[in-house]
Formats: sequence, C-alpha cells, structure tokens
Amino acid sequence: SQEAGRLRRPNAQLYGYCYQDSEDIPDTLTTITELGAPVEMIQLLQTSWEDRFRICLSLGRLLHHLAHSPLGSVTLLDFRPRQFVLVDGELKVTDLDDARVEETPCAGSADCILEFPARNFTLPCSAHGWCEGMNEKRNLYNAYRFFFTYLLPHSAPHSLRPLLDSIVNATGELSRAHLLPVLILLHPQPTEYQRIPDSTIPQEDYRCWPSYHHGSCLLSVFNLAEAVDVCESHAQCRAFVVTNQTTWTGRQLVFFKTGWSQVVPDPNKTTYVKASG
Ligand SMILES: *[C@@H]1O[C@H](CO)[C@@H](O)[C@H](O)[C@H]1NC(C)=O
Ligand SMILES: *[C@@H]1O[C@H](CO)[C@@H](O)[C@H](O)[C@H]1NC(C)=O
Ligand SMILES: *[C@@H]1O[C@H](CO)[C@@H](O)[C@H](O)[C@H]1NC(C)=O
Ligand SMILES: *[C@@H]1O[C@H](CO)[C@@H](O)[C@H](O)[C@H]1NC(C)=O
Repeated sequence: SQEAGRLRRPNAQLYGYCYQDSEDIPDTLTTITELGAPVEMIQLLQTSWEDRFRICLSLGRLLHHLAHSPLGSVTLLDFRPRQFVLVDGELKVTDLDDARVEETPCAGSADCILEFPARNFTLPCSAHGWCEGMNEKRNLYNAYRFFFTYLLPHSAPHSLRPLLDSIVNATGELSRAHLLPVLILLHPQPTEYQRIPDSTIPQEDYRCWPSYHHGSCLLSVFNLAEAVDVCESHAQCRAFVVTNQTTWTGRQLVFFKTGWSQVVPDPNKTTYVKASG
C-alpha cells in the first residue's frame, strides 16, 4: 500500500495554511507543505537511469492525476523543473499558484492553439465551445519538453532505447504513452509472456496465412496457450494482442505482432509481450 499511498498523493502533502498580513500585502496565504528537495535538472542528469525512470513514472502519475482531478482537468501554466520537488525519489508539485482548471472557450479550432517556443498545436473546439483536452495536452507537452526528453533516453539501457525513443516521441506528439512496458521489462517475471491489460499495439504487423485481416496477422485461437503456441511458431512474432471479438464458433481473435515498441491504451484488448529471447 505504499504504492497506493503514492498514487493518492502525487502533489506535496499540505500540512496546514493560514492567512496573515505580510509586509504590505493583506491576507497573504501561507501554506506549510511536505518538504522536498528542489528539482535541479543538472543534478538529475547525474543520477542513475533507474532513478530518472522512477521520476518519469511519478510524473506520469502526476499527469494522470491532474487530468482527472475532482476539480476537472488541471493545467500547470508554469511547468519548469523548479516548480517541483523530489520526495523519496518521486516528483511532486510544490506550487499550485499557476494551476488553472477552466478549459479555454472557443468558437472554432482557430481559438484552440497551444503555443510553445518550438512548436504550435491546433486542437479541436468541442460542440460545447471548449478547446478539447487543452489543459491535459499543455501538461503533456511541457512534461515532454522539460522532463521526458532529457530524463528518459539519456544513458538508458541499450535494449530499452527503441521503446523509450518511441515513448518520448509519442509524448512530443501529444499522445499519452504507456511507461508500463518499460517497467515490465525492468522486472522480468518467470513466465515468458508478460500481460499488459487494457492495451494494444497499433502497428508492427506482419502477414500470415490464413489471416482474417489483409495487412496483418489476425488468427483465431481457443485459449491463451494456443496463442502462445502460434506466436512461438512464427519467427517474426514478438507479441500478440488478444481482442474480445470472437468468430462464429466462439474462438477468440488475436493479432500477432513483430514487436512492441509502441503500446497504447485500449479498454477492449490485452497485450502479451515476449520478455525474453
Ligand atoms: C506559433 O504561433 C505564433 C503565433 O501565431 C507564431 O508567432 C510562432 O512563430 C509560431 N511558432 C512556431 C514554432 O510555429
Ligand atoms: C516523432 O517521430 C516522427 C517520425 O519519425 C517525426 O517526424 C517527429 O518529428 C517526431 N516528433 C518528435 C516530437 O520528436
Ligand atoms: C470487450 O471488453 C470490454 C472490457 O472488458 C467490455 O466493456 C466490452 O463490452 C467487451 N465487448 C464485447 C463485444 O464483449
Ligand atoms: C470496446 O468495445 C465496446 C463494445 O464492443 C465498443 O462499443 C467500444 O467502442 C470499444 N472501445 C474501443 C476503444 O475499441
């Protein structure tokens, strides 16, 4: 439950607060929060890759927490490293002064431009007149440009590089990426195939016969053991994705894949990746 505890407190714990007059400013709000070490990027780059990966995992949880907060999707206008502290190796927000909950109102997508020094994005304007997902996407791109791009690939284990590069790239393109496969690879289990629930591999297809689908290898199987047998019998197979669709006889449809450098969320599918060999 330490893990559960962390999930519940991705931002620095608030111990108390008071209003008082300070200097010339009346009603200054003073907060007392958990103490953490300020984040110094130069120092982080000197720590081990595993420590940096842990920080990225906690940043991933923080992004999720901000996007699903009870107040709505929260965006941090100032996402620079100095806005964060490290508490027991986990990244937490210290300063919520620059947090904003309201989504941006719009008449069309021309009103929904997310501007960054190196890149601009145009987001859709929803039927309700709000820029869709703007708060979450702003956090995601900031996480990409201030953290992931420096912390994830730098001196990472060689075998993880392709996967990490694709995660960093996906974040830079504003799609939420899964860090879970990296975690699984770091802690191989005794079984040969690792299960990643609620996920799929969008590409990395190969053709096989007799496939139910033209450009990919989609076969029906009776159970998981048969899916493993099929994957073992195909030299290219490195992973498979179990769908919950069945053929008319009730056999389950499974996509067989050449790799798993990109694993994305999908509530109706379960991915199995070959962790060794
Ligand atoms: C982003 O948009 C702003 C305002 O339209 C423009 O000044 C800037 O050059 C654009 N930046 C990039 C990288 O395209
Ligand atoms: C992601 O990869 C694509 C294709 O290689 C490339 O065009 C794009 O610039 C990359 N994006 C980022 C943010 O690195
Ligand atoms: C597929 O699985 C999802 C999640 O388990 C479930 O919500 C959905 O109803 C299932 N669809 C079918 C056709 O069984
Ligand atoms: C999951 O399955 C349900 C029911 O079959 C379907 O309505 C939904 O669109 C599917 N979701 C995805 C992400 O494919």
